Amino acid sequence: MGNISRRNLIRRGALLAGALPFAGSLLDKVQASPLLSGKPAVSGPWAVNGHAGSAFASEGWTEREIGLNAVEPLKARLFANENPFGPSDKAKKAIMETLPVSYQYPMRSMGDLTSKIADFEKVKQENVFLASGSSPLLMAAALGYFKPGCNVVTGDPSYADLPSKAEKIGAKWVKVPLTADFKLDLDAMEKAIDGNTVLVYICNPNNPTATVLDTAKLKSFCERVSKKVTVFVDEAYIDYLPDPQGTTLIPMVNTGANIIVARTFSKLYGFAGLRCGYVVTQPDIIKKLSLYTEASMSITTTTLQAAIASYQDREFLDAALKKTIASKEYLYEVLKKEGYTYVPSSTNFVLFPIKMDGKQFTDEMMKRSVGVRFWKFNNKDWCRVSIGRMDEMEAFAGAFKELS
Ligand SMILES: Cc1ncc(COP(=O)(O)O)c(C=O)c1O
Repeated sequence: MGNISRRNLIRRGALLAGALPFAGSLLDKVQASPLLSGKPAVSGPWAVNGHAGSAFASEGWTEREIGLNAVEPLKARLFANENPFGPSDKAKKAIMETLPVSYQYPMRSMGDLTSKIADFEKVKQENVFLASGSSPLLMAAALGYFKPGCNVVTGDPSYADLPSKAEKIGAKWVKVPLTADFKLDLDAMEKAIDGNTVLVYICNPNNPTATVLDTAKLKSFCERVSKKVTVFVDEAYIDYLPDPQGTTLIPMVNTGANIIVARTFSKLYGFAGLRCGYVVTQPDIIKKLSLYTEASMSITTTTLQAAIASYQDREFLDAALKKTIASKEYLYEVLKKEGYTYVPSSTNFVLFPIKMDGKQFTDEMMKRSVGVRFWKFNNKDWCRVSIGRMDEMEAFAGAFKELS
């Protein structure tokens, strides 16, 4: 157990200190965690490139990157679009209070969270389907919809998890380049649909470009296209927009549209490690997806209670948004000062073109204890940097200045 992990633990001490009579023994167990000690936690089969269940693996991460770097206590962990300002205190408190009853299966908590989400989104409970993050639902869609000979239409670049799994099943991945302003090209995507297309995947805001589509345009696209094929709208980053309720396509579900809207607690809610996500869609689509998930058994009671306690906790969400914006403004200034451009971001990550090979760049940044990602498209190398705490952005700036 190194100093860094001890410090981390103390920083997160509000969770533990005095919260429970058995906090001492719990602390010992937490301290033994490889996550905090910086030792590689995993090297097992799940971390290998070939494992279809890992979103990281589907994006080409190697075993070393997932198993080692992902758990080392980096100075700046800016490669996975997590929210280091979360989860909220209400979520942490709920976890501690739920621990003593976590011998219970999670059905009731599932029902409670489903009804909270359904009430807020003004849909029926039968339209909401929970899982341990949105990744299992992307996987379920890939398994439920695709077989050899079919195709999936996506933007390029966009989030690769669902189409890369469809491709593994034998489907064709039809990649449509983005517009000049790095948005999904809806007109071109519509033209790319053919008789073998079974699903169109829309990531809005888009990962990795952090751009958002015009809501009216996307809505009319979905109205037309969903008459022919299912439209999967991944709204993982929608909570970062100024008006998520005015942007989400969830209300279209009430019109009976053939769309699947995916949401996650992993981003602004800060639940990436707790694991909770859901789709809002038609009951017959849920029936199809549920064949390929362990829905009612897959989320822990502690996570569900944490989600119930912090769902729409505006005080926490607004504070996290404010800190994210401050860190993002700082990053913009650093990039401008070093003579770099960037794609203006509607999310908790920023994409910008780099002046060296992407792999070499991320390796050099990693040597300086800063984790970021790279992409290659439009004949350029790009860095995607997640927005972290200010100390992480400063660590990024220090390392970046040495390389630029
Ligand atoms: C666009 C998008 N969708 C889905 C996910 C998966 O999120 P989770 O499985 O944590 O809900 C991610 C993760 O980064 C993402 O960027």
